[in-house]
Amino acid sequence: MKFTYYGHSAFSIEVSGKKLLFDPFITGNSLAKDIDINSIEADYILVSHAHDDHVGDTEKIAARTGATVIAQFEICQRFQKNGLKNLHAMGIGGKFNFDFGTVKMTTALHSSSFGDGSYGGNPNGFIIQNKEKNFYYSGDTGLTLDMQLISQFAVCQFCILPIGDNYTMGPEDAVRVAHMINCPVVIGVHYDTFEFIGLDREKAKDLFEKNGLDLRLPAIGETIEV
Ligand code: NI
Ligand code: MN
Repeated sequence: MKFTYYGHSAFSIEVSGKKLLFDPFITGNSLAKDIDINSIEADYILVSHAHDDHVGDTEKIAARTGATVIAQFEICQRFQKNGLKNLHAMGIGGKFNFDFGTVKMTTALHSSSFGDGSYGGNPNGFIIQNKEKNFYYSGDTGLTLDMQLISQFAVCQFCILPIGDNYTMGPEDAVRVAHMINCPVVIGVHYDTFEFIGLDREKAKDLFEKNGLDLRLPAIGETIEV
C-alpha cells in the first residue's frame, strides 16, 4: 500500500483504490510549505480530533475534491454548519463498512477542542480493515491500556503513532503500543513541527530496532510502500 507523508500527522494511504487522507494540517505547517494542497486528491478525509493541527485544511480539500469526511459527530456538525455536504459522523467503539473497507473508531487519551475553544467531542483513533493490509492510526494520544483491545479487533500489519512526546506519547511508549497490539511496523508522526516535540531520529530508530520493530520516518512529500 502507498503511504504519502504531508508533515506533522497529515498523510494519505491508498486503500482498495480509494485515497484516504488523514488529519490534513498542511498550509499551517511551515515544514510542509512545499506541499500544494490543491494537488492532493482524496476520496475520504479522516479527522482524529478538533485541534487545529489536525483539522487543518480539511474544509478546503473536502470542498474541492468532494471527499467524504469521517469524524466525530461534533466535528461533522461544525463542517456541516460551514457548508460541507459529504459527512459521515461516527462515535468511539463504532464501526462502519465503507467501499474501501471497515473503519472502527478507537479511544484516544487526549483532548479535543476547536481553535476558538469550542467543544470538539472526544479525540479518537481509527482501525482500518480491508483486503490488503489492516492498520491503526492512534491520533494524538498517550499510551493507554485500552490499546490492548486493538489486537482483538484486528491484526494490524502497520500502525501510525505520534512519537514527538510532550503533547502525545513519545518513542518509548510508542514501542509499548507496538508490542501491545503486536504490530512490527510503525510510521512515526507528530514530531518536529512545534517547540517541545523535536525528535532525535537516530535515537528513536535505534530504540525501535533494539525492540525488534521497524520505525519508518518518511520525509515530508515522500511516498513509501508499506
Ligand atoms: Ni491534539
Ligand atoms: Mn496534535
